[in-house]
Amino acid sequence: MPVDILVGTQWGDEGKGKLIDVLTRDVDVVVRFQGGNNAGHTVEIGDERYVLHLVPSGVFRPEVKCVIGNGVVADPVALQEELEGLEKRGIDTGNVFISNRTQLIFAYHRTMDRINESGTGVKIGTTGRGIGPAYADKMRRTGIRAIDLTSPERLAAGFRAEAEKYNQIFKRCGAPELDVEAELAKVLAAAAKLAPRVRDTVYIVNAAVKAGKQVLFEGAQGALLDIDHGTYPFVTSSNTTSGGACTGGGVPPQSVRDVWGVIKAYTTRVGEGPFPTELFDDCGENLRQRGREFGATTGRPRRCGWFDAVASHYACMVNGVNKLAVTKLDVLDDLEKIAICVGYEIDGRVTKEFPASLAELESAKPVLEYLPGWQCDTSSARCWKDLPEAARNYLKHMAELVDSTVAIVSVGPRRDQTFSVQA
Ligand code: IMP
Repeated sequence: MPVDILVGTQWGDEGKGKLIDVLTRDVDVVVRFQGGNNAGHTVEIGDERYVLHLVPSGVFRPEVKCVIGNGVVADPVALQEELEGLEKRGIDTGNVFISNRTQLIFAYHRTMDRINESGTGVKIGTTGRGIGPAYADKMRRTGIRAIDLTSPERLAAGFRAEAEKYNQIFKRCGAPELDVEAELAKVLAAAAKLAPRVRDTVYIVNAAVKAGKQVLFEGAQGALLDIDHGTYPFVTSSNTTSGGACTGGGVPPQSVRDVWGVIKAYTTRVGEGPFPTELFDDCGENLRQRGREFGATTGRPRRCGWFDAVASHYACMVNGVNKLAVTKLDVLDDLEKIAICVGYEIDGRVTKEFPASLAELESAKPVLEYLPGWQCDTSSARCWKDLPEAARNYLKHMAELVDSTVAIVSVGPRRDQTFSVQA
């Protein structure tokens, strides 16, 4: 079966963009299946560094078809800008297609996102891109879909109706109202350029599957930000886990072969919410600096901590991860000893299960196990045997704890700093 899914197993920022770029060497179609321009997938090719937000990471290989699936929420103005930015840098975007069922994000969603974050309710620490309000409209059945990008009249009518409705809310909240016609002009300009890319991508993807082509589903964010399985309500508004690939791309579950879980050798999170292994000392700062842990979308410093095997075990279980791609191993190079969280102590009781209760997660004390560090450079390793024994043991232990197998190791941002591990 030719469909593989790649997901993040933590709170996002695991290095998925780089892995997808590496895996697309052998792939015909790449499909983004959820999220929107809240994502920031970094890909380094030679001396060039690219940050993708909506465009699938297969775009750097012109022969690969890139699909923005129906499960995505896409801001047409931001998408058009991203495509033009890539084209200006000489990247061919002719193979990027958008599902006609993709939901659209507009300026009123972004304003609503800001209002939600600044009110008296729970502050999630969102990326401010309007993701939650756009998914809420989808579920409320008032969203506008990409198919309307091909019909300026329908798009204008839908946009005006929704924008006016939102303006009533903004007025009540004392927020600035949207200049509907000015915003609509921007949307229509983007729509005219995007319209030729709008397709019924479900047929494109299923035809590729039927023809035995290799299809890779690219997840954004991470399992612990999943709307059902993450640290609710401190989550994003989509299903980031592998099940979301079937609904968000329109393929049946029996077409799936492998689920790749991208897992960082330590843990990071941006935004608010519980993070049991977070480090507030120099060690956390060292991880942040060495790992360049600053948000690719918002530039926010990421919170850093030890590898949390309890959370990642849950993530790997829910996703069905059978292949692990461990990233940023080199960031741990200078440490004398490295901790792994193997359980949570909650109310004097130790558990290996990831709790649904926010209160329990917030009070969880990590039970740490210490492994010896390797204190030498791994960034030049090009195969399993090149790694020092302590690094190999660390990786094996990570895999054991999450009940999966290490298939790829990444020791730096460049394409060549990634190698396969033979079983
Ligand atoms: P939203 O997706 O902008 O609504 O943000 C909800 C939560 O998900 C916030 O904590 C964000 O920081 C987090 N989040 C969203 N996208 C990403 C991502 O690509 N990487 C890491 N965290 C993210």
